[in-house]
Amino acid sequence: MRRLCDDTDARRLLNPGPVAIVTTSWRAGANAAPIAWTSPLSMEPPLVGAVIHPHRHTADMIRFSEEFALNIPGPDLLKHTAFLGTQSGLNVNKIESAKLSTFAAQRIDAPLIEGCLAWIECGLQDVIPIGDHILFVGRVVRVQALDEAYAQLWLLNERRYSPLVYLGGTKYSVLGETLDANVEVDMQGGLVVETSEEREERQEREAREREEAFERTGE
Ligand SMILES: Cc1cc2nc3c(=O)[nH]c(=O)nc-3n(C[C@H](O)[C@H](O)[C@H](O)COP(=O)(O)O)c2cc1C
Repeated sequence: MRRLCDDTDARRLLNPGPVAIVTTSWRAGANAAPIAWTSPLSMEPPLVGAVIHPHRHTADMIRFSEEFALNIPGPDLLKHTAFLGTQSGLNVNKIESAKLSTFAAQRIDAPLIEGCLAWIECGLQDVIPIGDHILFVGRVVRVQALDEAYAQLWLLNERRYSPLVYLGGTKYSVLGETLDANVEVDMQGGLVVETSEEREERQEREAREREEAFERTGE
């Protein structure tokens, strides 16, 4: 059944991209805060967007330092990620209280978080007010990723090397399996939803499942 949702549900429905922990540094102070609202914006030049509420300390840190890094955590950093979102870094060193280790970025001063799967270093290209948030447009200046996690695309071979996604509240998920969408069209140009190979695979799988169910229950 289709159900009418609140207009604000749009944000939750679009949430599940990888969570990023934004790291910043300004005048010998460093900060880290998770954000779910990120987006690639341009290939050439390479630009990414971070949508941040103006009340966040991170928003000021980005404005002052004119740079930021997006650190992409996996499930091992689930609790650290949630913790960094519970308080402002204005008066506390959250990186220290979260017991996170950092290492030096290559092109910017903001620290990078150890234990993440990938790191995107950005210079600040633009600041665009959007509704009640601000879109910080980052010019990508360096990208690093773990071999185990990424090779031109997320590999998803192992759960611990798969990016964490944020569902809302205290709920997170990890990206699961890779699905291969090889699109085929029929003589009329319409989509072939199931190829003969896929039909065979499905029928075999269903037969296997029926057998397993029979062994379990005798029905
Ligand atoms: C998983 C997660 C995702 C979040 N996404 C965003 C976001 O996209 N934009 C934002 O402004 N705040 C977001 N928040 C809230 C900030 O992380 C939170 O307010 C944080 O305490 C800000 O820290 P700061 O004041 O040190 O910058 C998110 C929080 C969590 C836990």
